[in-house]
Amino acid sequence: MLISFYSIFYKIVLKNIFFQFDPELIHDLIVKIGETQGKISFVKKILKSRLSRDSSQLKQKIAGIEFRNPIGLAAGFDYNGELTQILPALDFGFQTVGTITNHPYEGNPKPRLGRLPKSRSLMVNKGFKNKGAAWIARKLAGQTFEIPLGISIGKTNIKQRETQKSAIEDILSSFCTFEDSNIKSSYYELNVSCPNLFGNISFYPPKNLSELLTEVDKLKLKKPVFIKMPINETDKQIEDMLDIIVRHKIAGVIFGNLQKDRKDSSLDSSEVAKWKMGNFSGLPTKKRSNELISFAYKKYGNKLVIIGCGGIFNTGDAYQKIKLGASLLQLITGLIYEGPLLVAKINSELPKLLKKDGFKYISEAIGTDIL
Ligand SMILES: Cc1cc2nc3c(=O)[nH]c(=O)nc-3n(C[C@H](O)[C@H](O)[C@H](O)COP(=O)(O)O)c2cc1C
Repeated sequence: MLISFYSIFYKIVLKNIFFQFDPELIHDLIVKIGETQGKISFVKKILKSRLSRDSSQLKQKIAGIEFRNPIGLAAGFDYNGELTQILPALDFGFQTVGTITNHPYEGNPKPRLGRLPKSRSLMVNKGFKNKGAAWIARKLAGQTFEIPLGISIGKTNIKQRETQKSAIEDILSSFCTFEDSNIKSSYYELNVSCPNLFGNISFYPPKNLSELLTEVDKLKLKKPVFIKMPINETDKQIEDMLDIIVRHKIAGVIFGNLQKDRKDSSLDSSEVAKWKMGNFSGLPTKKRSNELISFAYKKYGNKLVIIGCGGIFNTGDAYQKIKLGASLLQLITGLIYEGPLLVAKINSELPKLLKKDGFKYISEAIGTDIL
């Protein structure tokens, strides 16, 4: 009841106010508010008592990590680890911080963020705007986290042409910073798929990906690694990447990152024309994300955990990805269009969908549309 009321209030009032202002300004403001609220225990208590539910139906143990529900915050919303204390109160099941790079980066030239309401999408051109691995590791050190926290790592975004070797060294260096810091994080994401970077390095060719993962294996990381995958490559290219991934110590894959294709049928052409740079989140990612979840599940569902990400705006979208083979889910854009209680709403409605299909636990529903 409260969730429905607030969701309507968000969509009719708050969203319309927010959408009058620069998206990056609003994002920074929301992160500041979230960080402050995360320090006030009675605020968290009230939110939790209203929003959080402890449903045994949604719990899973995946890659050795206990998840209280399947909905996580995707990389790209909390770049510097400022929301770690408030997200559990909003009923998130896990969260990814980053993408973090070895060296700090002030972000690509503006505009870095745009709204495409008709397309239910955001234009993203951040290029890993973050304070760098050392700063963020210091910030997170000593904190405890109520839900599993992941560190997303990518290559530092620099304009100079790089070699494959130096790019790998840069990535390994970030892993080492976090591995040595004893932060109570639970997993890593290795982001090989950011479409907004300078330089000429690509880890999509199997040989390059293999070289990177061979070096990552050598670090003998203490926490599971998930790879954030692109969605614009062909099935064959994705298959080649998966064939490499399963030969390494990788727990799973996330499908996927942003939509690069400006002609995607979900994108309104007049909205796209406003942005010369950037790639697109939300609805334009949904179809390909779903295709690749089922593709990966059919091929390697027994070897890789699949995390579904892209265009989740309601419980139906979330459940669809689970039935296509995703064990866990991540989102960002849905929060912007539907409001911050979207996660609590999905978690409250998922058990009903499970029951309708005759499942008791969420784990029973994974991949059932594929068999
Ligand atoms: C503002 C913004 C910034 C993003 N930055 C990153 C990033 O740094 N690393 C990453 O792996 N994905 C990043 N993404 C992609 C998201 O993690 C996600 O894959 C994509 O937006 C699809 O999910 P959604 O439709 O729920 O937003 C970003 C997305 C948005 C909207």
